[in-house]
Amino acid sequence: MEQLDWKNLPFGYIRTDYNIRCFYRNGKWGELEVSTSEYIDIHIASTGLHYGQEAFEGLKAYMGKDGRIRLFRWEENAKRLIKSAGGIKMAAFPLEKFREAVFRVVELNRRFVPPYGTGATLYIRPLLYGSGAEVGVKPSSEYTFIVFVTPVGPYFKGGIKPVDMLICRDVDRAAPKGTGIYKVGGNYAASLRAAVAAKEAGYASSIFLDAKEKKYIDECGPANFFGIKNNTYITPKSESILESITNKSLLEVAGTLGIKAERRQVPVEELAEFSEAGACGTAAVISPIRKIVDPDKNMIYEYCRDGNPGPVTMKLYNKLVAIQYGDEPDEFGWISFVD
Ligand code: PLP
Ligand code: COI
Repeated sequence: MEQLDWKNLPFGYIRTDYNIRCFYRNGKWGELEVSTSEYIDIHIASTGLHYGQEAFEGLKAYMGKDGRIRLFRWEENAKRLIKSAGGIKMAAFPLEKFREAVFRVVELNRRFVPPYGTGATLYIRPLLYGSGAEVGVKPSSEYTFIVFVTPVGPYFKGGIKPVDMLICRDVDRAAPKGTGIYKVGGNYAASLRAAVAAKEAGYASSIFLDAKEKKYIDECGPANFFGIKNNTYITPKSESILESITNKSLLEVAGTLGIKAERRQVPVEELAEFSEAGACGTAAVISPIRKIVDPDKNMIYEYCRDGNPGPVTMKLYNKLVAIQYGDEPDEFGWISFVD
């Protein structure tokens, strides 16, 4: 393989050796199949293509100092894929099969797991879609599960370098009681107008507000939001955001670091009271926010005035990453070894 520049990997697609597929037909899942092809044959009338019957997951494999490959809370991803499947009426992919597929695809592609200390990881992307033919709007009777991997660098350029974000009031990503709580492709399609507008204006991401009242912070593109004030980690509660596994973990990690934690509605005006702010997720890890601009209200909220992430953000980041790479004991039982 051509030598990869591990330290400068983008968050993008790089071909690896193998992926795994599994097919649901006649009411049951078949055996896992290993493939070397990057392509799939898909029926022209599949519900995944026409009606957005598709959900996905994202998790990472981390290479420890000891040369062992670790996964972080894979069961949470398996359970969330089952929940997403239920949300758009797909056949659920069983948890135990998910485990087998994910561990196997990492083992098969172990030469693509970035070395310890490079800041890169092996991103694991499971997906599930309706592959049977229908023309009416109804759930498919056939489904395809695929998992592929690709080595990645940080999602937001610079990794732990603070980024700027733009509040978006003219695009809603998801509605309350809609599909925002599920990790389905349609939510990401719905976010693209805002994402492109933010990028074109020079921001790392857009920030979505709650669709109903436009009063509360929802999330930051493909990551949850958090703010820090009075040594408290505060993160939005909402009916239209994805329940982030990273965020859920940080709420617990905070407790062990003497940081208080709250999950509740976060009014936009509260941005003025935070001493630090950030985005968190598997791809984003923790991305500190330097500035949030709300053009419609003529407001600019600034953090990290010295250009560096704040102290509470750094404490949380260091602890989370230390657990993921195995530099600190896994006191929560979140790590599984692949080998
Ligand atoms: N919010 C959205 C919309 C996402 O796509 C993601 C990524 O998975 C997250 C939040 C972060 O979730 P997690 O920490 O489980 O990766
Ligand atoms: C992740 O954090 O794993 C995600 O799925 C974000 C992705 C949409 C880039």
